[in-house]
Amino acid sequence: MIIHTPKVSDIQDKKVIVRVDFNVPLKKGANGGGTKFVVADDQRIRSALETILFLKEHGSKIILISHLGRPDGKVATEFSLEPIAFYLHQNLGLEVDFASDCVGKEVAKKANKLKSGDILLLENLRFHSEEEGNSEVFAKKIISDTGAEVFINEAFSASHRAHASIVGLAKLLPSFAGFDLSAEIKILNKILEKAARPFVVVLGGAKIDDKVSAVKNLSRLADLVLVGGGIANAFLKASGIEVHKSFMGKDATTNVKIAKEILDEHQAERTLVSDEDQKQGLPLPKVVMPIDVLAAKNQDIVDEKDVVYMELLKDVKDSEKDLDLQYLDIGKETISLYKYLLSKAKTIFFNGPMGVFENPLFAKGSRNIAKSIANNTTDFGATTVCGGGETNAVINACGLRDRFTHVSTAGGAALEFLGGEKLPGVEILKR
Ligand code: 3PG
Repeated sequence: MIIHTPKVSDIQDKKVIVRVDFNVPLKKGANGGGTKFVVADDQRIRSALETILFLKEHGSKIILISHLGRPDGKVATEFSLEPIAFYLHQNLGLEVDFASDCVGKEVAKKANKLKSGDILLLENLRFHSEEEGNSEVFAKKIISDTGAEVFINEAFSASHRAHASIVGLAKLLPSFAGFDLSAEIKILNKILEKAARPFVVVLGGAKIDDKVSAVKNLSRLADLVLVGGGIANAFLKASGIEVHKSFMGKDATTNVKIAKEILDEHQAERTLVSDEDQKQGLPLPKVVMPIDVLAAKNQDIVDEKDVVYMELLKDVKDSEKDLDLQYLDIGKETISLYKYLLSKAKTIFFNGPMGVFENPLFAKGSRNIAKSIANNTTDFGATTVCGGGETNAVINACGLRDRFTHVSTAGGAALEFLGGEKLPGVEILKR
């Protein structure tokens, strides 16, 4: 079954509620409003523009809803969406009204006043625990307070969450896919259906708890999974290699356990990576781990003297005696190895930096890997897709945005989709 984007007759002059993913990085700055944050990266905002402008052009009364961060059901200024309303107006020329909650009297009053083409952005859905709890009562309240007649999901990057604004609203209203969501699915489906081989997945980043399971499915689909960043620590530990005090996610025990299951599942498999003109290749395990790292006491150090280079090749058995060190980037030998393997790939999916790239002392791994993937796209015609907030920040910082086949707005959602899982927010649109 296919999902549908809206036709003019579906939305013309109607009150349309659009679930966007304005979960964008913010930084400190003056936004002219009540909070002290400004938008640091607007990719997700821009990706919703086609849908918003289509609705505006055809006289819809537009209500935008989103989450930002993980405020756990409590109001917190640093997670307010108000800076986004400011950004839409100041930087994208869209007049946007803002309501300081996503339900209640103020919402009802503002939504009621909307005229054709007007836009109202509601405050962070996750200030209410009912959002993540997928409460039907909450979804109904959003609909009754806003008077919404049609629902559009334009939040592909949040569609792996079975939350009230993603599946609850879709159950209750005539529902459509936003143009960006629809395009993302088409592109990722293409990779799923006919990825040219070798297909290499590069996985890193700090959201380990979400990603370790995705590796399970992806390692069945991909020829090689190169791990870096926090995820690599879980795999190193699961292989019995020392990681000292490295970060392995909030639930380190579970993550290491899952990593071990993945390694066990592929224990008897080898991927042969070879040059096209050579008969012999390099046999590699499915999950490739760092062979050297940069470590330090913490990720905020500023002096290069405090960075410790460590080889993970011999005498690296995990012991009880942890040094006060965390692995914060992949080392130079790992960079060379990963670059070589990436140069052989025909399809690459890149999600998550290789280290704490925000600190220039630990940015080399991520930058080198991003460059290597970009070169493979432009010089050798590989299909390359990257996704996720942190990954996008890396490629933006390196000026490589235009050198990937596709830059997805999604991190976790893209990983789950490529891993063959059904995304609740997409499935519900198929009815
Ligand atoms: C993301 O950044 O991946 C999406 O906005 C989903 O956010 P979440 O992981 O907090 O649900």
